[in-house]
Amino acid sequence: MNAESTPGGVPRPEMRSDASGWRVEQLTSLTDDLSRNLEPIVRQHYVEGLGVGPAQFVRFEVGRLGLLVKSGAWLLVVFHGTSAVGFLVCEVSGWDSEIFGFGVGRVSAIGLDPARSETAGRILIGAALETLRSWNVRQISARIDAADLCVIHALEAEGFRIADVSVTLGLNAGDIGDAGITSMVRPYGRNDYGAVREIAGGSFTYSRFFNDTRFSREAANELFARWIQNACSGRADQVLVAHAGNQVLGFVSCHIDRQAEALLGFAVGDLNLLGVSAAAQGRGVGLEVLRAGLQWFKPRTRQIEVRTQLTNIPALRLYEKAGFRVTRGLVTPGGVTFHRWLS
Ligand SMILES: CC(C)(COP(=O)(O)OP(=O)(O)OC[C@H]1O[C@@H](n2cnc3c(N)ncnc32)[C@H](O)[C@@H]1OP(=O)(O)O)[C@@H](O)C(=O)NCCC(=O)NCCS
Repeated sequence: MNAESTPGGVPRPEMRSDASGWRVEQLTSLTDDLSRNLEPIVRQHYVEGLGVGPAQFVRFEVGRLGLLVKSGAWLLVVFHGTSAVGFLVCEVSGWDSEIFGFGVGRVSAIGLDPARSETAGRILIGAALETLRSWNVRQISARIDAADLCVIHALEAEGFRIADVSVTLGLNAGDIGDAGITSMVRPYGRNDYGAVREIAGGSFTYSRFFNDTRFSREAANELFARWIQNACSGRADQVLVAHAGNQVLGFVSCHIDRQAEALLGFAVGDLNLLGVSAAAQGRGVGLEVLRAGLQWFKPRTRQIEVRTQLTNIPALRLYEKAGFRVTRGLVTPGGVTFHRWLS
């Protein structure tokens, strides 16, 4: 999707303004001027311990925003007078829409100037909802930094409801020990396809799709089955499987965040999906496959991140046991996920 050709050929929303000096604009690129204007809003999210300083963090976040818009996502900016006081990036998720059988959209990024967040949020989110509705989107999600209370309150005021809270854990590659990969774990092979799909298609019941009963459970399971299927077909940089003879017991998919590499000059690993078959859980398989994933990441990345749900105690404990520590996250930040149904 790109800004000129919206789903269903719906025209771009017009620029709206009112006499009190507020206006919202849909922009097709992030100019240098606008980037500078948005920097203070983005800087609010900087915290220590990310592996980058505040200036690098802002460059990274704004750079990612620019790439998102370049890839066809819609950027809405709210101005008060001449200053930009908020931005929102939204898009339709073709993949989720296909699996669930109705239009699924997301707010991929949002930021508000806290001093003017009430009006800015109302105008911005109102415009985004109108746009998404015109694209026949029925369901929208938004993951927000848990510290970003002004955005959280703005979403609540527009009818968004909490669906999930996620936490990110991180590990420096230099802190990973030298333990070799055991014979229990090997790279994914084509014959593993069915088994890996089956494990993924029943494992991720902590996710927001299961918390929100308006999603079909069958479709939610299918989403994760296809997720790992795509990872195995090349989306992941590596998929490792734990096995006992011919039987696949679990898997981990390892991604290297290419945007971080391009924007920051160093590689960050994203431990994307990890699952163990229900029958094999509690026997050390998860830890083995995770450790093997870390050995794969070690020479290739500077730090590794993993995001999971606050309610997923087994996963949180597993990551702690492998040495991970809670962090805000650079490439996979955790936060509060909201859902909004339009019909
Ligand atoms: C999370 C998961 C991968 C753990 O795999 P596993 O093979 O059962 O875990 P292990 O037997 O290797 O256990 C390793 C450690 O994880 C933690 N852990 C695992 N299961 C746990 C449970 N039910 N409750 C609390 N801690 C648990 C423990 O710290 C455990 O070490 P310990 O027993 O010495 O305390 C597995 O439960 C799973 O597949 N869950 C569904 C998918 C999922 O949620 N994936 C993670 C999100 S991406």
